[in-house]
Amino acid sequence: MNDETLLLLANKAWATQLKDERPDYFVRQAADQNPNFLWIGCSDSRVAPDQITNSPPGVMSIHRNVANLVHEDDDNLMAVLQIAIEKSKVSHIILCGHDGCGGVAHGMNRDATGAVAHWVRDVGELSDRHRTELEVLGERERIDRLVELNVSEQLDRLSRLPIVRAAFERGQEVMLHGWVYSLTDGLLRTVRTIAATDLLQEQPG
Ligand code: CO
Repeated sequence: MNDETLLLLANKAWATQLKDERPDYFVRQAADQNPNFLWIGCSDSRVAPDQITNSPPGVMSIHRNVANLVHEDDDNLMAVLQIAIEKSKVSHIILCGHDGCGGVAHGMNRDATGAVAHWVRDVGELSDRHRTELEVLGERERIDRLVELNVSEQLDRLSRLPIVRAAFERGQEVMLHGWVYSLTDGLLRTVRTIAATDLLQEQPG
């Protein structure tokens, strides 16, 4: 049997079982969505946001890209953010990196080509800014520390986006969370949290 045929069969089994257990499930689900979380994470196949947080469909809007980066000129992410903030009015935006991230490693080592090299170029600049701290670490520890620094950096970028600023300024309740997922034990840890009050206090006067 083909690999993709297995996926289709598994899907049929999943839908059938769910409908047996909760006959109105798909009728209710099709009506609308109202997720409370937006997840911005890495495309890595091992970091499946809803599975690792045990979230059923409808709870979490998900955007993934290589190395969980925030670029203001990324129309894809900006559209996802706009819908999450303006329509769904999510309470939490989680930006999650993961240990041993290949995208972060490529950025740090500047050893990628093509689209990947272009996409992760800022990670190289970030590692330069933290050279002193990083250069004393071993290869694996260096990547994992840069993963944390990258999460913090991307959370900063997120907090400065006009759409996020506007939400904070009009008093919309939304918190930004920077997390890292460990591939070795399956656990999430918090690197940093930003609330509206943190940013509004930063402004002079
Ligand atoms: Co990754």
